[in-house]
Amino acid sequence: MAEFLLPPNSKIKNNGKTHKATGDAKRIKTFKIYRFDPDSGENPRYDTFEVNLDECGPMVLDALIKMKAEQDSTLTFRRSCREGICGSCSMNIDGKNGLACTTAIEDIKGDIRITPLPAMDVIKDLVPDFTHFYAQYASIKPWLQTVTPAPAGKERLQSPDDRAKLDGLYECILCACCSTSCPSYWWNSDKFLGPAILLQAYRWLADSRDEMTGERLDELEDPFRLYRCHTIMNCANVCPKGLNPAKAIAEIKKLQFERAQ
Ligand code: SF4
Ligand code: SF4
Ligand code: FES
Repeated sequence: MAEFLLPPNSKIKNNGKTHKATGDAKRIKTFKIYRFDPDSGENPRYDTFEVNLDECGPMVLDALIKMKAEQDSTLTFRRSCREGICGSCSMNIDGKNGLACTTAIEDIKGDIRITPLPAMDVIKDLVPDFTHFYAQYASIKPWLQTVTPAPAGKERLQSPDDRAKLDGLYECILCACCSTSCPSYWWNSDKFLGPAILLQAYRWLADSRDEMTGERLDELEDPFRLYRCHTIMNCANVCPKGLNPAKAIAEIKKLQFERAQ
């Protein structure tokens, strides 16, 4: 599994509590889980959870749910769909960002260390603060913008070929695995939109029904918002949906170049 630089919390000592496996455990997996409660006034720590794999589902999220249900009800993380659709359970799993619900425990050798997504403020335990990420998403106006009146009584139609241009874009679940793996985003997230939001921006630029292409490109024509991508490709390596934000960013740069000619 690819390793990516971890945020400063990788320096935190394993000084937390140890929760022993429940039941007559024969196959035990050990998880080191980042714990942080801002209300406690204490420093972050790693807690150790031993999980009986014979009584646990196959995915990392199954293990987290079991830990919370049986060992420590204060363990805090986000999840909803449990099938890679909602994007809620994104976290750093043994050095790589991903979805806990689609990451198999058996695919990770040895102890599994889990931390929140890097480079975001932490609200509690494995829950990062998405406020800035969502504000950046809102800034690209992620909805269809038109100036011509809608056809009476009909949808705005699109040819199958034009619809196919949205493949590889519309599937994004806004989990932020890519943006929080991107070194450029770590250092410049106040100004650089990052791979997730730029992929979303291209989703609307590529939509044949949208009539604000020029305005959208104007908004992105900025030394930081778009051009901080240095094609490091962490984003494509981690995307749990198999998308390629770096390619979408390159397409936006191409559109900017073409209209400047
Ligand atoms: S390709 Fe660009 S957006 Fe993707 S990780 Fe690298 S710098 Fe970030
Ligand atoms: S492009 Fe992939 S990794 Fe990035 S937010 Fe969308 S689904 Fe998540
Ligand atoms: S719980 Fe929805 S993506 Fe994991």
